[in-house]
Amino acid sequence: MPGSPLVAVTRRLPKLCEERLTRSYAVRWGNDAITYTPDTLAAHAAGAVGLIVSPADTLDAKAIAKLPASIKALPTFSVGTDHIDLHSAKARGIMVTNTPGVLTDATADIAMLLMLGAMRRGGEGERLVRSGAWTGWRPTQLIGSQLGGKTLGIIGVGRIGLAVATRAKAFGMNIIYHNRRPSPEAQTMGATYYASVDAMLPSCHVLSLHCPMSPETKNLLDARRLSLLPAGAFVINTARGGHVVDDALIAALQSGHIAAAGLDVYTGEPHLDPRYRDLENVMLLPHLGSATLETRIAMGMMVLDNLDSMLNGRAPANPVF
Ligand code: DGY
Repeated sequence: MPGSPLVAVTRRLPKLCEERLTRSYAVRWGNDAITYTPDTLAAHAAGAVGLIVSPADTLDAKAIAKLPASIKALPTFSVGTDHIDLHSAKARGIMVTNTPGVLTDATADIAMLLMLGAMRRGGEGERLVRSGAWTGWRPTQLIGSQLGGKTLGIIGVGRIGLAVATRAKAFGMNIIYHNRRPSPEAQTMGATYYASVDAMLPSCHVLSLHCPMSPETKNLLDARRLSLLPAGAFVINTARGGHVVDDALIAALQSGHIAAAGLDVYTGEPHLDPRYRDLENVMLLPHLGSATLETRIAMGMMVLDNLDSMLNGRAPANPVF
């Protein structure tokens, strides 16, 4: 609303959220096609009291330092906050909020899509049909691996990890997991806890990553850990690209030690190691974890609830520090 406080948004939002935002604020809309630099982000935020950002925006120490002094609230349209230097934001007195909980089911569904895609060779099958090279049903064509009866190892049993465990159990999978501490919900489900990742890996037919990004989980899946997985295992990553050492995973996919992988996230998104594109045995998605209309509207409404609270002197429901 003209005359109201100015809020800058880096990316377009679902229609319902944009409509709500414009009812309370003057809005400077962002551009989905660009990568913001610290300077262009600062220019975009000039004069605004709130800046709505997304995981595609880098708010490192330099970008935070350049934000105008008017910025009080920095809600991110994501549960992950690894794109924001929280320490710098806190030091500048800028409040940060995120969107936990509402994207659990959507992200767990994408993990299952990738698990099915990798194990049942969905990407290869789709490409075969599209190419026109399919010659018909054959008893030995594109033979995959059944989910039922296989053991799924989950690293990080928070909301999303648990939702994946629930779905995988319905497919007849046996669930084992590593977490900082045992999860009562996972235990109730009959999942087996491993205090160490290394001890769990040799028992995983499938490994799915669901831990937050942190210095401890960066490069978690390196060549040594991949070698601890049994030959022919599958790797699924819907968490953050930085958990995986690309050189190591690509070598394991090339050698066949890892039968196939399903990836939704990459180091340096939207760029990814180009060697992935040449591998038939990896299913690649463009960070679709939370991409359902229901989830994106719920995320957007949470962003706006937090923004309203922060700009009106109330404690936001989802502060990250
Ligand atoms: C998040 O919210 O952190 C996701 O990666 C975006 O879907």
